[in-house]
Amino acid sequence: MVKLMLALDLDKERALKVAEEVKDYVDAIKVGYPLVLSSSLEIVKEIKDICEKEVILDFKVADIPATNEKIAKLSLRYGDGIIVHGFVGEDSVKAVRDVAKPLNKKTILVTEMSHPGALRFIQPIANELAIMAKKLELDGIVAPSTRPERLRELKHLSNLPVLTPGVGAQGGRLEEIIKILDENDYIIIGRAIYNSEDPKKMAKYYKEKIRALSK
Ligand code: C5P
Repeated sequence: MVKLMLALDLDKERALKVAEEVKDYVDAIKVGYPLVLSSSLEIVKEIKDICEKEVILDFKVADIPATNEKIAKLSLRYGDGIIVHGFVGEDSVKAVRDVAKPLNKKTILVTEMSHPGALRFIQPIANELAIMAKKLELDGIVAPSTRPERLRELKHLSNLPVLTPGVGAQGGRLEEIIKILDENDYIIIGRAIYNSEDPKKMAKYYKEKIRALSK
């Protein structure tokens, strides 16, 4: 079954509350700048103490190789993997991968982003990014639920597990993307769960919907 990843873009207090509420229904958690900058990387440990799920660091790392290496070393003391940008070049991505691999942690490459602004600069190079992810034998790509045909193509080109944001708040539809995905892939949902009146109920709803549509 396709996995459900919660994007926990909240402050510490709310994040820990939501993690506790939804833990029975999510398979993994994505932690990014909003949470880490309002707390610290230690938050990853606190989340793991609550729910023992895979935690991916969405830091969209995009610097020169030497700096990427330092960022990866410091970040990957926590969590199970890190998201990087590829437009900075193969050497920068390799620098992260070479830190992550020996630690048994994932390097996941952003291909095309899910928001409208992505059409101008990143969509034109997204196919090449997917091909680079395959060449570097990374652990996955990020590709948009908001554009199912692009999701399909990027998954095909990379032949890697996909993490796909965009369902819910950004308008992506589960029904449209589920048939493109398989059990190695993750659907990332944030606001549609944590901003709802009852995050637990909403996480359960998505989990059950994924199960029903996966058949
Ligand atoms: O709240 P929502 O469900 O839109 O959250 C989507 C999450 O995925 C956010 O954490 C956002 O930063 C992230 N993301 C995205 N598009 C990408 C890469 C990451 O929306 N291409």
